[in-house]
Amino acid sequence: METIDVETLRTWLEEGQPVTVLDIRPMHERMEWAIPGSFHIDAYDALQTNDPQALAGVKLPGDIPVVTVCGAGKTSVAAAQQLQTRGIQALSLEGGMKAWSLAWNVAEVPVANDTVHVFQVRRTGKGCLSYLLGAKDEALVIDASLDPQVYLDLASMYGWQINSVFDTHIHADHLSRSRQLAERSGAILFLPEQQRVSFPFTAMRDGDTLTTPTMLLTALHTPGHTMESTCYLLNNHLLFTGDTLFPTGIGRPDLEADEQQARLRASALYHSLHKLLALPSDTLVLPGHTSTPVPFDGIPIAATLAQIVEEVGILHAPREAFLEQIMMRLPQTPPNYRQVVTFNEMGLLPESGVTDLEAGANRCAIS
Ligand SMILES: [Fe+2]
Repeated sequence: METIDVETLRTWLEEGQPVTVLDIRPMHERMEWAIPGSFHIDAYDALQTNDPQALAGVKLPGDIPVVTVCGAGKTSVAAAQQLQTRGIQALSLEGGMKAWSLAWNVAEVPVANDTVHVFQVRRTGKGCLSYLLGAKDEALVIDASLDPQVYLDLASMYGWQINSVFDTHIHADHLSRSRQLAERSGAILFLPEQQRVSFPFTAMRDGDTLTTPTMLLTALHTPGHTMESTCYLLNNHLLFTGDTLFPTGIGRPDLEADEQQARLRASALYHSLHKLLALPSDTLVLPGHTSTPVPFDGIPIAATLAQIVEEVGILHAPREAFLEQIMMRLPQTPPNYRQVVTFNEMGLLPESGVTDLEAGANRCAIS
């Protein structure tokens, strides 16, 4: 049986090679998340019972390969076999959606009048957004959420050496790869000042800067989502906001907090958001997450502060109303977040089961 691995399918999609992705999972799994641009037929139960007609009704564009996808890459094999009997070139995605959790794509962020290149590196399924910033021969990375090799390969394509690695906060939704990336590249690991992690790092406090010949990165302490949360402002124009501010929402203040602590954090968040809103309105916000699968479209997920002010109503609320609204709108707690936080505080990755631990949609935002 022919199969295709995640890296090959991701490359095909990124390069725009013709391929039809056919998702055969039950509808409720599809609703959770999906491969952007994929077709769907809920054929799971029929395939499980070896119904030879499971895919009989599916109409597919001719002459291009079909990749069948299920949760873990088993039932999709049966689907691919059925399509092959119809003369269709069909491949099963190895490891299914579980393996797809680590698939990624890239979008370049347009930077006017600047020699710096900024790439948004997106984990398409999980919605984690990381950034590679490079100029001349050096680069830095913010919120690494993928295998360090991804960033090392991208940087080497441009002749950059990764010298600095930053996290905006101690993440609860995904395992940070920043410590591992710093070790692999020999970069300095910068984290917001805090006493949470048990490994060495260089602390970034409010107003601290990192200066290179082409980049000025300024730390803005923005407590709220977590108390150490820090945004990074590049060359007074691009604002990497982590989970503090998103194009369509704001960070949640409640993880690892009881109701009283969540209120205190929400109050801190209110002040942090207004600190950010005092920046020039054409500042471009580049967030740390998005809540829907990221298409292979090369378009960065970003918005100016002016656009966000228009979009996110809660930013107009006075403090008391802001606190009331935020406490009423808290989303479901992300699965496994306590274990993810523990690994991130230790700076470790589990030896296996990374994708199990990181399962589920991103839930760091309130929109
Ligand atoms: Fe977060």
